[in-house]
Amino acid sequence: MSGGITRILRMSVDRLDPSVLCDAATILRSGGLVAFPTETVYGLGANALDRAAVQRIFAVKGRPAINPIIVHVNCESMLNDVVADWPQSARDLASRFWPGPLTLVLPKGKNVPDIVTAGGSTVGVRMPNHPVALALIREAGTPLAAPSANRSSQLSPTRAEHVLAGLDGRIDLILDAGPTANGIESTVLDLTRDPPVLLRPGPISIADLEAVVGSIARRDSKSIIQPLPSPGLLARHYAPRTPVDLFTNRLELLERAHALQELVRSVGIVYFGVGAPSVTNAIEMPKDAASYAKELYAVLHKLDAQELDRILVELPPDDAEWFAIRDRLTRAGAR
Ligand code: TXA
Ligand code: MG
Repeated sequence: MSGGITRILRMSVDRLDPSVLCDAATILRSGGLVAFPTETVYGLGANALDRAAVQRIFAVKGRPAINPIIVHVNCESMLNDVVADWPQSARDLASRFWPGPLTLVLPKGKNVPDIVTAGGSTVGVRMPNHPVALALIREAGTPLAAPSANRSSQLSPTRAEHVLAGLDGRIDLILDAGPTANGIESTVLDLTRDPPVLLRPGPISIADLEAVVGSIARRDSKSIIQPLPSPGLLARHYAPRTPVDLFTNRLELLERAHALQELVRSVGIVYFGVGAPSVTNAIEMPKDAASYAKELYAVLHKLDAQELDRILVELPPDDAEWFAIRDRLTRAGAR
């Protein structure tokens, strides 16, 4: 729909407007694109069983054809059309974490067009924990293929205005239900391998997963192996346009900031926690991981919009609680 008009409709999560849902579902059933909120980030949805509609997602995002798209369902029986196998491990994980920020990679069902899975034999599926997303899938009556609603390799959107900034005029509709709750993308777990492999860390931690399915394999988040098990793991991903430098030490960060300012370069600073020297464009991030994740992309979007020369980030601690956040920061800092 490039060159078209993007409508924005507000949705209250307390009172889902049936007429707005009907409009959105009608667009989806006729092959259009609708951005909608999930608990993680905003998704760019198309009917997952409609090859041409999914092709449109790739076109408007500028997404490489090698990158498969997650399919979203609102109940497990909808998976009959999507996956060829639903093993006990998937049942157990779904009953514990769905609806929620966990994507399971399973053998692809025959009704799913190859374009959704980038030609691969597996498909990523999840049931999002957001009343608007669930109601939209139900109303559309079809599973929705939905990547994050941003241009390829840019920051994921956690608010409708982020979606608009990246995709205005290129998609049909944005359902705006305010900021998302988790703020970073779902955990992706490949169940086609034994033991299961964590492809992308996210809000559901490794410990949470292991408590249900036993030990899982982790990838070294910095390595890129061929063939790509999950192109979202490409080093540079989830990145603002402004170059990002990462620091484990606040003193080093401040020295770098001063050096840049002496060269008349504009810098944005993302501090970990409070008590930092307050300079222009400095933002103090929360000390608890859930609040940090919820704010992260909005902060990066905001600094990125200021067209600074550089964004300096003080990293949170290198421990399990911060694993997914450090993963996203590391990608934002990769060049
Ligand atoms: O939280 C989320 O997962 C959001 C919301 C909208 O659901 N979606 C999202 O989609 O982050 P996207 O396309 O930005 O990232 C999906 C990731 C990519 O890294 C992709 O490569 C991987 O999941 N993925 C999808 N299907 C896969 C498959 N069959 N095998 C391996 N990786 C897959
Ligand atoms: Mg994405």
